[in-house]
Amino acid sequence: MTKIAPSILSADFAKLGEEIKEVEQAGADYIHVDVMDGHFVPNITIGPLIADAIKPITNVPLDVHLMIENPDAYIPQFAKSASIITVHQEACVHLHRTLQLIRSHGVKPGVVINPGTPAEMIKPVLTEVDLVLLMTVNPGFGGQSFIKEVVPKIAQIAAWREEMGLHFEIEIDGGVNEVTAPICTENGADVLVAGSAVFNQSNRKEAIDLIRKSAEK
Ligand code: DX5
Ligand code: ZN
Repeated sequence: MTKIAPSILSADFAKLGEEIKEVEQAGADYIHVDVMDGHFVPNITIGPLIADAIKPITNVPLDVHLMIENPDAYIPQFAKSASIITVHQEACVHLHRTLQLIRSHGVKPGVVINPGTPAEMIKPVLTEVDLVLLMTVNPGFGGQSFIKEVVPKIAQIAAWREEMGLHFEIEIDGGVNEVTAPICTENGADVLVAGSAVFNQSNRKEAIDLIRKSAEK
């Protein structure tokens, strides 16, 4: 079954605990935590203190998406609360080393690429990861439109996974809704991040069910 990872970027931060409990009860598979530093992306969001505060209130694994420069410096802090930490290829000078650093903290490593980055850039590290995250928007904000030109990259990564006999998950982030979800899963995606398509709806269970149902058509 397709996994759904609601992104708390679009949640009401004044009642974040309740928002997370609501999507947990609605069947969220991961809680997607968007960390932005105002340098790698033009926005500032969540730090390790917030991730630490969320961790004890939910049984859903935290999927921490680091959109920051020099992620190595912050991995030890996020490792306290994260089940998965994803780092951008574009932000890592020594990508292989950074992925191993994440694993050394007992956390699943994932690699992310922006829409403008070719899939080839991460082929050499596919053996090191538990998850590949493909951005279908330029990172920085929720509520942007799905960039459909990324779709062939989903199929390419899925084909390499098969050829190389690997088992990482393929996650898609940006502009996912009931219309774009099936395009992702038809091409090999396993996990769909959804921010505005979940948190901008009054009934989060209906929103998650709708995305999952359309993804599995
Ligand atoms: C974008 C973030 C996304 C964002 C997705 O930079 O990485 O996780 O919250 O939001 P939607 O689903 O609204 O595109
Ligand atoms: Zn994200």
